[in-house]
Amino acid sequence: MSTTRFLTGITPSGTPHLGNYAGAIRPAVAASRNPGMESFYFLADYHALIKCQDPARVHRSTLEIAASWLACGLDPEKVVFYRQSDVPEIPELNWFLTCVTGKGVLNRAHAYKASQDKNAEAGRDLDDGVTAGLFMYPVLMAADILMFNAHKVPVGRDQIQHIEMARDMASSFNHLYGEHFVLPEAAIEENVATLPGLDGRKMSKSYDNTIPLFAPRNELKKLINSIVTDSRAPGEPKDTEGSALFQLYQAFATPEATQAMRQAFANGIGWGEAKTMLFECIDTELAPKRAIYEDLMAHPAKVEAALQIGAERARALSRPFITTLRAAVGLRSLASQENCNAKAKAAKAAVPSFKQYRESDGKFYFKFMAADGSLLLQSTGFEQPKQAGQTIAQLQQQGATALPTLASLLNLADGIHMEDVAHALQALQDAHKD
Ligand code: TRP
Repeated sequence: MSTTRFLTGITPSGTPHLGNYAGAIRPAVAASRNPGMESFYFLADYHALIKCQDPARVHRSTLEIAASWLACGLDPEKVVFYRQSDVPEIPELNWFLTCVTGKGVLNRAHAYKASQDKNAEAGRDLDDGVTAGLFMYPVLMAADILMFNAHKVPVGRDQIQHIEMARDMASSFNHLYGEHFVLPEAAIEENVATLPGLDGRKMSKSYDNTIPLFAPRNELKKLINSIVTDSRAPGEPKDTEGSALFQLYQAFATPEATQAMRQAFANGIGWGEAKTMLFECIDTELAPKRAIYEDLMAHPAKVEAALQIGAERARALSRPFITTLRAAVGLRSLASQENCNAKAKAAKAAVPSFKQYRESDGKFYFKFMAADGSLLLQSTGFEQPKQAGQTIAQLQQQGATALPTLASLLNLADGIHMEDVAHALQALQDAHKD
């Protein structure tokens, strides 16, 4: 397989904002159009339950995020776009991986340690408010990745440790149960845009300074007008350095337009005018996508249908794979054990064999047949059945070494050489050893 498989998980625990768009959605949708790579995108809704225990919010966010990605051009016919909870093989794999993961490894996970550190600072019990879900987060993430044997996982630096853990789990499993998993690699996006928010700090839900990606036009305008600026009046030259307004403009404008804005700053453009230009620039890029988004939000069944296509495609891979993995760890039908025995018996039966018989001349004979039942040799006639039996026993016990002495009693079948007989005797002896 020469195509590289990329896998990206998106946790549905909020409403996407411009920072998510410029930093994640836009580059990912662009990358999904590259030939020579296969892309998997999924809504990590099992993960969402770790952070968010408000059912309505998880449900709403799943819809908003799925609709956003579709509106931004993710093509569910070209990529595999699914919801984690539609693939029950993932939690099953999660358990297999749980059982090959050291607890101590999970103790060292950054997210878990950060929670402990916070508790330590506050003088609380170290595990105060820490769910086992948070503790197990890296295993579920590894199951997401390994379920589809992804080669590359585009993540931010904060997620590198999780990918390394997934690699370790894959190797442990492979070591115990055979080579089932590809060892995934993190694909670090070096130059992802991080956008400033309304207050100039990084745009983030936790700072409450975001501009929702698909805010209606009026609201978008209002929010952009509320971006903090300094108090310089129109006509006074302005700094692009450290200007949230400029950085946002740069994330949406062409390089030429950005250059023109830089000049306008130097020439003392008024903040009001700059904000209007920023608004127009962002709105031009988002308006067509917003129309699709609004349609999808009004018709959630369309989003569901897209996700179901993805679920089917994902499960076409995960179902047979989990069957293999179950068998590998020893979880398989007992009836198939019977099959195994029957097969083993059949295999045993398929060895060379002797048969004794009496001819019309009144003498006793034997023949030796290959595993496939074809005749290798017939004996000369013995007066007593016992003589035939003893000769057979000698051949069985001594194998090929008995052949020179017994050659005169053996008539090879047409096209058969003594060597063939020697091999068959050897096969017979080997079969008895097992
Ligand atoms: N942990 C990721 C985040 O917080 C989301 C995620 C869950 C993920 N499973 C994944 C990312 C598998 C990549 C691969 O953003």
